[in-house]
Amino acid sequence: MRDINTAKANIETIGFLDIDIDVNIDLFAAIEKLKKQKNAVVLAHYYQEPDIQDVADFIGDSLGLAQQAEKTKADIIVFAGVHFMAETAKILNPEKKVLLPDLKAGCSLSDSAPPALFKLFKDKYPDHIVITYINCSAGMKALSDIICTSSNAEKIIESLPKEQKIIFAPDKNLGAFLNKKTGRNMLLWNGACMVHEIFSLEKITKLKIRHPKAKVIAHPECEEVVLRVADYIGSTTGLLKYSLDNEASEFIVVTETGILHQMQKNSPHKTFIPAPPNNSCACNDCPHMKLNTLEKLYLCMEYETPEITMDEDLIIAAKKPIERMLAISKQYGL
Ligand code: 13P
Ligand code: SF4
Repeated sequence: MRDINTAKANIETIGFLDIDIDVNIDLFAAIEKLKKQKNAVVLAHYYQEPDIQDVADFIGDSLGLAQQAEKTKADIIVFAGVHFMAETAKILNPEKKVLLPDLKAGCSLSDSAPPALFKLFKDKYPDHIVITYINCSAGMKALSDIICTSSNAEKIIESLPKEQKIIFAPDKNLGAFLNKKTGRNMLLWNGACMVHEIFSLEKITKLKIRHPKAKVIAHPECEEVVLRVADYIGSTTGLLKYSLDNEASEFIVVTETGILHQMQKNSPHKTFIPAPPNNSCACNDCPHMKLNTLEKLYLCMEYETPEITMDEDLIIAAKKPIERMLAISKQYGL
């Protein structure tokens, strides 16, 4: 076994605790034990690998996870998701320890909006309100008026007067979808998610021909050409609910494949077909989300590292627009 202090010191370089685990350990049981011992809660996004979803206390979309983080009584929040999600949990709970199994679990969409560049853009439009998708850094949140997720974006936009000028960042696809839905003309930042941008319309069309009764369900981070062929568009929670409630027995799922685990669990008799990307892969995994593993989850709980740490002023500035989002969501019963 590697020396624990050396391993901890290496986290900044490699992102996670790189120490050997006894192969005889039952990781599920060990994680359950650590949860009780440390009063820790494990929050997992639907895009996490199935084992992590199965051991989590709460599985959800970005809004559900932020809401759980806000109300948890646990001392330690273990976030099985990507960095911006764990950072949001820390902003809402500055006094708690927030752990992320792999610190390098980032997000291409978040990376597409560097705060310094965004500030230059925003300063050109002083009469605009900034609504920012939660998939962004704390620095971006601090420059925003209201945060939103794919579950509540429409309601958040509609809570503002029709004539209010708005900048929407960082996802241009979600922004374009929302402009169409709400009839607004929000100024869009030119960012996108590497996972949702590469779905192949041609392959989805071929799948539809082979499965004529299948419903196409898509996440609004997809490009407009793909969304045009969808029977339903929604957040991961929305897609899951639709697949449960709809009477169809086949679904072509146009989002990250992790969500198929819960879909299949909730509707074991239905068939879920992951939509293929425009490369040689059959399905579409988020390389950032999938950096977390059950082993890394166990190690981060055992050694309480890697931990999310943040500057106090940044926490205060980033918290305001998140709280505004949570308050509006509550108002609409979301
Ligand atoms: P939701 O969890 O809001 O559906 O967003 C999906 C996503 O891309 C998270 O990274
Ligand atoms: Fe970011 Fe896209 Fe991965 Fe979600 S799926 S974490 S938006 S890169």
